[in-house]
Amino acid sequence: AAPAQGAAPDLSFGTVAKHLEDRVAVPPGYTARVLYRLGDPIAAGVSAYKNDGTDDPASYDRRAGDHHDGMTWFGMDAQGRWASQAADRGLLVMNHEAITPAFLHATGQTIVGAKDEARRTDAREVQREFYLHGVSVIETQKKGQAWSYRQDSRYNRRIHTLTEMTLSGPVAGTDFVKTKYAPDGSKTRGTVNNCANGTTPWGTYLTCEENWAGYFRRLAADDARRSAKELAAFKRYGVSGAGREGWATVGDDDLYARWNTEVRGASATEDFRNVSNTYGWVVEIDPFNPKSAPKKRTALGRFGHEGACLGPVVPGQPLVWYMGDDARNEYIYKFVSARNWDPKDQGKGTAAGDKYLDEGTLYVAKFKDDGSGEWLELSFGKNGIDADNKSYAFANQADVLVHARLAADAVGATRMDRPEWTAVNPRTGDVYVTLTNTNARSRPIDKTSAANPRHYNDPKNGKDGKKEDQWGNPNGHIVRFADAGGKPTSLAFQWDVYLFGARAGSSPDVNLSGLTADNDFSSPDGLWFSQAVPGLAWLETDDGAYTDVTNCMLLAAVPGQVGDGGKQTVVNIGPGNTRTQDTYVGAQANQKGTQLRRFLVGPKGCEITGIAESGDGRALFINIQHPGENTLDADIGDPSKFESHWPDGGNARPRSATVVITRDDGGRIGV
Ligand code: FEO
Ligand code: CA
Ligand code: CA
Ligand code: CA
Repeated sequence: AAPAQGAAPDLSFGTVAKHLEDRVAVPPGYTARVLYRLGDPIAAGVSAYKNDGTDDPASYDRRAGDHHDGMTWFGMDAQGRWASQAADRGLLVMNHEAITPAFLHATGQTIVGAKDEARRTDAREVQREFYLHGVSVIETQKKGQAWSYRQDSRYNRRIHTLTEMTLSGPVAGTDFVKTKYAPDGSKTRGTVNNCANGTTPWGTYLTCEENWAGYFRRLAADDARRSAKELAAFKRYGVSGAGREGWATVGDDDLYARWNTEVRGASATEDFRNVSNTYGWVVEIDPFNPKSAPKKRTALGRFGHEGACLGPVVPGQPLVWYMGDDARNEYIYKFVSARNWDPKDQGKGTAAGDKYLDEGTLYVAKFKDDGSGEWLELSFGKNGIDADNKSYAFANQADVLVHARLAADAVGATRMDRPEWTAVNPRTGDVYVTLTNTNARSRPIDKTSAANPRHYNDPKNGKDGKKEDQWGNPNGHIVRFADAGGKPTSLAFQWDVYLFGARAGSSPDVNLSGLTADNDFSSPDGLWFSQAVPGLAWLETDDGAYTDVTNCMLLAAVPGQVGDGGKQTVVNIGPGNTRTQDTYVGAQANQKGTQLRRFLVGPKGCEITGIAESGDGRALFINIQHPGENTLDADIGDPSKFESHWPDGGNARPRSATVVITRDDGGRIGV
């Protein structure tokens, strides 16, 4: 909808203190209950999860996946149609980004050999892992005050690395995506490393493929069989090495060979040399149609997709999605549909996606040092994106989309400190992007920019500060921008820095937002605005640099708007080096009516990911991802060495899980 009017909300809960315990803490008057854990059954007749590595691998396509991440709650009416205001029945759709192998099999992953030659030898373990990635759709319901999911709902569904997906948009059918699985380039099998998410105004879910590159095997011996262009592309996307879970090594069957990108046959349709080009996309799923094939929307570009946040929806105007590419020094993008939004397309599923997501224009952001910014078009033949480009000769628009990072390099976009979630404030239309952190090796002190202005070593960050990876911007920041004239189709914007992560008590040159014990945080990742309470934001952390003090957390925020602060000089300190960087900083943590307060702290070794709400804002769903992730495979036989036993307690193996939070008086969450 267009920006909402009216007063900003007021946070109304008591601050939750930082802690290092193995539990979820929420404010007094709130209750957090576990709703949906790794392995929980989602079809009639599937047994309860034993959680000891002995559950039948073939049952995992009807169980919750691992590493719960981005999610959306789709309210549903009595006829099974999307009803965004619904309060007590809806489909919860969530990503399962990755796995913690130590907790999935009897004794961790079975591997023989070392390094590049290592092989997985237990096909049943690998079958589990194939199913544990991807997406869940589950029907949730409120009875009395208690939320649960229906194990036998006809809507329940798992989408995973074996699910057939349609390739859609300009790249479909081109030589880039022809494989043995689909010689005509029309489809691929599976989705992987689904991180954050997005929505559409017609009621479908977008799941975003982030660190997909690491799953593929491509050893150096393959280089001799590849063109210079292919090698440049593999390098830019990080497709190299043995493959992080070793899936390609189980055997020669296509089931495993499709994770091997090496040239093996006489032509591209006899092997999987192109398979990695079929990953790295935004994928559309219609949760209301359990038989529908997911569609990979190639017009939105291929990179390390974190999420895809829908911008303001105005009938008769194009639709826009804002997207981050999560790796150090990567970019922020937006996609603008060619067609204008027609509200009659609501409820039309992926057929509406064919209309709005397959044709449009991809842009990448340039943040200028004077507080303005520019969207640079990534279209073949424009802005130097053509066969004459020096570092990569583009052949056509499909080439541009498959290699969006190289196109963004060519136009001179601004490298950012690891873009994670994008979020749009419904009160103002401002777009927020979390920049989780970076280090001095990736972004040295002389490579700061106004939008990535900070470089320091916090003496209290628990590290000795002598190594490059402990300097830089270890606590991250949040940048935000307003497209000119409030129009998402504008090619100009104004930006400022909304917040800088820091630990309370660190020097004012580091703690630029004046964070206190009530709201200090590090490494912002999930960022999402409530729709039920316009102006209320939720911020989730994924922290390596603050876990000596606290487990990861969820904060509530009421921000101001772009331009409510002013110009500021940041003093930067590197080893043997001091520089200043002028930047633009918005009203900080508790200034000028803005609010920021810690709402939840999770159990040990977790990251807080994914967030959604019921249509009335009285239930908040969040995900606890990989509790106990610092447990080693070798320690799986000794529960005393597990970092966490959450949520089941005792000696149990920890499990990623969805938690539903309600207020004991039945009120709206946070305000
Ligand atoms: Fe999967 Fe960028 O976090
Ligand atoms: Ca993330
Ligand atoms: Ca992260
Ligand atoms: Ca994670």
